[in-house]
Amino acid sequence: MKMTREEKYRLIEQAEPGELAQLQEKIANCPWRQSYHIQPPTGLLNDPNGFSYFQGEYHLFYQWFPLGTDHGMKYWYHTKSTDLAVWEQLGIGLEPGGKYDSHGAYSGSAIEKDGKLYFIYTGNTRDEAWIRHPYQCLAYMNESGLITKMDQPVIPEVPPGYTDHFRDPKVWKKADTYYCVLGAQRVDQTGCTVLYQSKDLLNWEFKGEIVTRLPEFGYMWECPDYFELDGRGVMVFSPQGLDADGDKYNNIYQNGYVIGDPLDTGTREFAHGSFEELDRGFDFYAAQTTADPDGRRLLVAWMGLPDVEYPTDTNGWAGCLTLPRQLILKDGKLLQQPVPELAKLRKAEKRTKMSVSRGVKHLEGFDGTAYELICEVPSFDAKTFGLELRAGGEEKTILQYDAEDKKITLDRSLSGQTMGEINGQVRRCSIDADTIKFHIFMDTSSVEIFVNDGEQVFTSRIFPSPDSREIRLFSTNGTAEFQIVKWDY
Ligand code: FRU
Repeated sequence: MKMTREEKYRLIEQAEPGELAQLQEKIANCPWRQSYHIQPPTGLLNDPNGFSYFQGEYHLFYQWFPLGTDHGMKYWYHTKSTDLAVWEQLGIGLEPGGKYDSHGAYSGSAIEKDGKLYFIYTGNTRDEAWIRHPYQCLAYMNESGLITKMDQPVIPEVPPGYTDHFRDPKVWKKADTYYCVLGAQRVDQTGCTVLYQSKDLLNWEFKGEIVTRLPEFGYMWECPDYFELDGRGVMVFSPQGLDADGDKYNNIYQNGYVIGDPLDTGTREFAHGSFEELDRGFDFYAAQTTADPDGRRLLVAWMGLPDVEYPTDTNGWAGCLTLPRQLILKDGKLLQQPVPELAKLRKAEKRTKMSVSRGVKHLEGFDGTAYELICEVPSFDAKTFGLELRAGGEEKTILQYDAEDKKITLDRSLSGQTMGEINGQVRRCSIDADTIKFHIFMDTSSVEIFVNDGEQVFTSRIFPSPDSREIRLFSTNGTAEFQIVKWDY
């Protein structure tokens, strides 16, 4: 049920008596609660925020509206981990409701300075006429985990030339200077990113727009991120307003990256190549990265999208985060690989080899709803081959490689409860390879598929019945040799 504006912009303590208990009860009866992904205790999860490594632990926050699945009053929910595999749920990180974040503590990022972890985030406010006024705010966490918000915003206004869609600061440090990029909308309704600079995180100087090769590319860019990897500059962002173009840009909003020479922070020139989507599945948005002490560049995203209804809405919750992935730069492209630490979640292991000729075979003894599966197909002469996942009754989620047109397809039209009909229930992309490896992370209501060690990734929510547990292999017009290893999670 849709909430009124008044209902949406309530703090937790303004919940009606029994309201939270009622939500918790609905959630307890939901068949689609995840078993190893980060998900909200109640209400809505959206963007990952403040992803960082601080004093021996990874910290990862997310946008959280506790009281419902609408986009209402956003908090930062706090989780942390020593190994990127098991996350401790710590509750509220940043609480909105102050003068400069009266209508939500919106997305932002974290950086360590002088033994504290600083957060820069967007304070969302609305005035009486419901006009939005964004402020960029600062908070910090001390070594005992106590988080304090600063009284005054550090970027109190939107510079001329931009609308009130001005948010999601991502901070980094180079030499002795802090930089931050923000997602912005120009007054002519096109999206871009702007750059700020600071010596102390408190005083920020507006430098201007990052000069990209995409002057007209959608109406708003959300959640920008900038980092350098192997001497190249990478900008990740979530543009809104792109039209679908064949296999590309099929979701309501996109999330992708451009790679180029490192950003010139003086001229703000960023000479980059084409925009590439990070993910080819149905549910992926607002990715945020961090560097860890080993120098790895790690990425987490929201396994969901704005303005999409999810079947769990009626169960009182929605959204989860993707698994953490490491970014690798290869031949001018980003590969995403699940972090090796996830192996800690592995339980019972099963292996098999199977040759499938023109037909479908149930992998006996491999049924499940939460597992990691590696499926390699070193040789084949079939036209198409692949897997039917979470299969049972009428349901199946189909992952297929077509050797003739060299495309991977993910079809969720029979995955269970359907949703988000926009651009249909099939996503596909080309892959240039002679052998195929699918590395799959299945959870109760999601699947993440890494193709050929992260050359392409399909991340999607699915809502099958708990009884749809089979894994089946198939081939058409020939034979495919499958090598399978699976771990229960
Ligand atoms: C992206 C986004 C951000 C904003 C946040 C609010 O999903 O719209 O731009 O900061 O969500 O929750």
